[in-house]
Amino acid sequence: MAYIPENIIEDILNRTDIVELISSYIPLKRAGRNFKALCPFHQEKTPSFMVSPQKQIYHCFGCQTGGNAISFLMHYEHLSFPEAIELLARKAGINIPKLEISKKEQSYLVYYKINELACNFYQNNLYSNSGREALSYLKSRGIKESTQKQFRLGWALSKWDALTDYLRQKNISVSLLEKLGFVLSKEDGGYYDRFRNRIIFPIFDIKSRVIGFGARLLPKEEISESEQAKYINSPQTPIYTKGEHLYGLNFAKERIIKEDFIIVVEGYFDCIIPYQEGLENIVASLGTAFTEEQAHQIKRYTQNVVMVYDGDSAGELATLRSLDIFLEKELEVRVVGLPKGFDPDLYVRQYGIESFKNLILNSKNLFDYKLEILKSRYDINEPKGKLKISEEILPTIDKFSSPVLKATYIKRLAEELGVNEETLISEMKRFKEKNKTSYLRQVGLSSYNKLDIHPTEKLLIKLMLEEEEIIKRLMQTVSPADFEDERT
Ligand code: CTP
Ligand code: MN
Repeated sequence: MAYIPENIIEDILNRTDIVELISSYIPLKRAGRNFKALCPFHQEKTPSFMVSPQKQIYHCFGCQTGGNAISFLMHYEHLSFPEAIELLARKAGINIPKLEISKKEQSYLVYYKINELACNFYQNNLYSNSGREALSYLKSRGIKESTQKQFRLGWALSKWDALTDYLRQKNISVSLLEKLGFVLSKEDGGYYDRFRNRIIFPIFDIKSRVIGFGARLLPKEEISESEQAKYINSPQTPIYTKGEHLYGLNFAKERIIKEDFIIVVEGYFDCIIPYQEGLENIVASLGTAFTEEQAHQIKRYTQNVVMVYDGDSAGELATLRSLDIFLEKELEVRVVGLPKGFDPDLYVRQYGIESFKNLILNSKNLFDYKLEILKSRYDINEPKGKLKISEEILPTIDKFSSPVLKATYIKRLAEELGVNEETLISEMKRFKEKNKTSYLRQVGLSSYNKLDIHPTEKLLIKLMLEEEEIIKRLMQTVSPADFEDERT
């Protein structure tokens, strides 16, 4: 969106009188401190539309619309936000910096538009003849029609070029389709649809714009010899970066604020089914490791995260390790491990939502949960087991930002292991050093000295050599002149 500086908006509102503005459209009558009128937004015989000069707002007690001068114009004149601002600025005689949408923003608008077209296409397929089987599968998994519609589930036809054909007819170039991950190129030239014969799960951003897609096989293909992955997803595109989004956050955000915690599950169905049963503060990670970006997004709504793991991943240390990123971002993390063989979808359908809510109420904090898992894996009475356990849990303790929590957990761990706290604290430091040097070795920077290339620059070059996509992204932000080293 075009960016309008906050202070300019404030300025425009300060120089606008809402009574004057609205009375230029409809007749207002004084009523005590306020003004009233027949509401322009719904049919009525007695006036319930009020305008307050003190508060500079309007409100209709009949249809519950209301807002300030900007929202009045948007609603009455059907303007976008920047258009309304522009009009008010003109009326108030204020110059605003030209609201040009950059080239980049323009192309992004095109990407969203194409994704929207594709999403609609898949949705319509689901309700056509060819979607019958998919529809009955969704039904068999307990998904109601209203839920299907809300999550905009769809169906990709089994044809090789159904979507390509449809979008080509709308004059969308193949190169755009490729850029957005809809087509793959054939060896002998030509293209084919990436998603075929699969249930479609659109992935939304926080503003409910479609940014990518996940796609699931029907169960009968799952057991066939084809050895296709059960789920495939959009690749990295200019508007979709794997692992940066949380599935369902657009629907969950208000409830997350209200409940002051977020439930994170792994899969699409695991998110949709509990949501449908009224547990709406839920999102799915889509089975990837957590990223800083996700932690950052969560933090805008709450500090409290409850992770619910499938029975088969509940004890995976690698999976648990990825929770440390939440601690680094000062989020409070609790964990629920489901019984073996269960995921949230199955659990809710078998035992009901109340029982699932109970599990969440009884979630364990990350330290306790991790310690329990470690104790079930390693023998805490053996020296080797003690080492393994501390190696795994000390880095996690180190990530707690609160010194009080750190000290508390060190004390608890010391008691459990039967070693003293000072030992654990020095071990914690040693592991930290060890991790740092192994990271440096990984990116090949340990021998950095003045004769070498600047480490960041070297890393950038290394990445560019490996990933074409990164080159494209870097080209937008970095130019050769930004490098210190002249060789680059
Ligand atoms: N996933 C994926 N690609 C795969 C397998 C899984 O992207 N090949 C992602 C999907 O988002 C999936 C999540 O990881 O929802 C969890 O995977 P899994 O537990 O295997 O599937 P379920 O969500 O339980 O799927 P279903 O209930 O449909 O069998
Ligand atoms: Mn499942």
